[in-house]
Amino acid sequence: MSRRRQIYEGKAKILYEGPEPGTIIQYFKDDATAFNAEKKGTINGKGVINNRISEHIFTLLGHIGIPSHFIRRLNMREQLVKQVEIVPIEVIVRNVAAGSLSKRLGIEEGTPLPHTLLEYCYKDDALGDPLVAEEHIACFGWASQEEMQDISAMAIRINDFMAGMFAGIGVKLVDFKLEFGRVFEGDFSRIILADEISPDGCRLWDIKTNEKLDKDRFRRDLGGEAEAYQEVARRLGLFPEGSSEVTDLNSERKKRGK
Ligand code: TMP
Repeated sequence: MSRRRQIYEGKAKILYEGPEPGTIIQYFKDDATAFNAEKKGTINGKGVINNRISEHIFTLLGHIGIPSHFIRRLNMREQLVKQVEIVPIEVIVRNVAAGSLSKRLGIEEGTPLPHTLLEYCYKDDALGDPLVAEEHIACFGWASQEEMQDISAMAIRINDFMAGMFAGIGVKLVDFKLEFGRVFEGDFSRIILADEISPDGCRLWDIKTNEKLDKDRFRRDLGGEAEAYQEVARRLGLFPEGSSEVTDLNSERKKRGK
């Protein structure tokens, strides 16, 4: 058993103190929650898959010059990341109407948006992560105007890259959530991408059938969530067929009778 210090336990991840100052270990759990944790469950093997998918996407984003907290994957469920001060804003990027946008404004799910829409939610579980305007962010000092410029520019570049990447594997990137953090260098700080990018925080629809390949399967009780996550990983070329990791996941699932 490891003796390292736990820093924080979130809904889907646990953060531990890293091996060097300024580093953190992110442990990906199988726990799934929805509707501000009103609905709770597990998706078998999700942590392993999200760890791999997030590693893959953060690495590719690094290649196009998006700075992030990702350092390297350590094992099946853990990755080493830079410690950041999280900006208390969830950035939602939308290409197609769905979810809370459809509900709030009465726009049918699946309606393509004329251009990419950025929304911001204030990260506060007790308040249910309310939607806020850039004016609120400035007014309450959650991020500076310069930081918001960096954040929005990165979010658009990330979307352009990810929409293309997913289109290439027959997946429509409907929307997704990003989180950013500050790293301090002397008197200065800069913004880098943090958290994770996985089917937990993205809406991913099969391009041909519109089948949902993301956490909406869990949120909406559609079933087949573990298979959907595995399908995304498979299409991304992760866990090649017959690899021991896939076999492990499948036997883990069979053991639990799922
Ligand atoms: P929404 O339509 O429920 O606002 O969700 C938009 C996108 O953001 C969707 O891909 C799921 C993701 N998301 C999270 O990752 N965490 C959250 O807490 C919420 C509300 C949404």
